[in-house]
Amino acid sequence: MRYHLAPIYCRPWLLNGLSQRLIESHYENNYGGALRRLNAITEKLASLDFSTTPGYVINGLKREELIALNSTLLHELYFASLGGDGKPTEKLAGALANDFGSVDRWRSEFVGMGNALSGGSGWVLLVYVPRDRRLLNQYAADHSQTLAGGVPILALDMYEHAYHIDFGANARAYVDAFFRNIDWAALEQRYEDAAKVAGPRPLIQPEFDGVPGIAVEEVKEMMAAGKPVQVLDVRPRHFVSRQQDIADGIEWRDPEQLQQWIGELDKSEPVVVYCAYGFHIGCKTAIKLRDAGFDARYMNSGHSGWKAIGHPLKRYG
Ligand SMILES: [Fe+2]
Repeated sequence: MRYHLAPIYCRPWLLNGLSQRLIESHYENNYGGALRRLNAITEKLASLDFSTTPGYVINGLKREELIALNSTLLHELYFASLGGDGKPTEKLAGALANDFGSVDRWRSEFVGMGNALSGGSGWVLLVYVPRDRRLLNQYAADHSQTLAGGVPILALDMYEHAYHIDFGANARAYVDAFFRNIDWAALEQRYEDAAKVAGPRPLIQPEFDGVPGIAVEEVKEMMAAGKPVQVLDVRPRHFVSRQQDIADGIEWRDPEQLQQWIGELDKSEPVVVYCAYGFHIGCKTAIKLRDAGFDARYMNSGHSGWKAIGHPLKRYG
């Protein structure tokens, strides 16, 4: 396959404070260079016999492919980020205020990161993270350190070639000029597209279909806020005696002896039960409790979840 040149969406003759000469040089030499390199690497990789090629050759080419491909993609985003009037749309202003506190706060962070790269080089990116459904500013040095699973929607190129023709070493003036030219309407469209990307798939356990789970952080918050909730560790007996630890503030009950302790529970308060990792025993116990009329849920990360969030443990018994 061959990668094709994307058009300069930003109409260089309309930019305010970034010269046509600078943008043309950037597009032709640096973006074009990355694309030419990418196509040469792709061709080379396609010609390799991977069963006989030494590992160091494969490693080098695959690393360079990643760098060239990401440089290509980020340059396309950079040029597509420019060409507007620099005024955030209402939708983006709302999203930035939601995720950063205010547009000014986001701007000062993004500009601060750009200025901090003066005299160095790299990218400053505004990225949408589907996992958390929020925006985040990040650095991407060497073109390749983009957030796994993130969707960049705004790119500021802080490599010297992006500004030296117009600004010499005055990178701050370049960052200001960049902001005057951001195309927020295009950014809003990219944001809408990014927000359609689904987060990681939730764990599906068809055999326990319909049993509601709850996250360990949510259980902890309910307990800390003094909300009524009855939380029980129902790991199988051999787990408790083997691991010898239990989350502080939690009681253990033997899942095999449910009929002996079910009478201790209060039907007017929700119940959360969990096993070692949040699978079978926790789900089965939650089902039995629900069948008995309790508002019961299983904690979907189990005892390991308490440890993973750093909740204090105590010795059991
Ligand atoms: Fe560049």
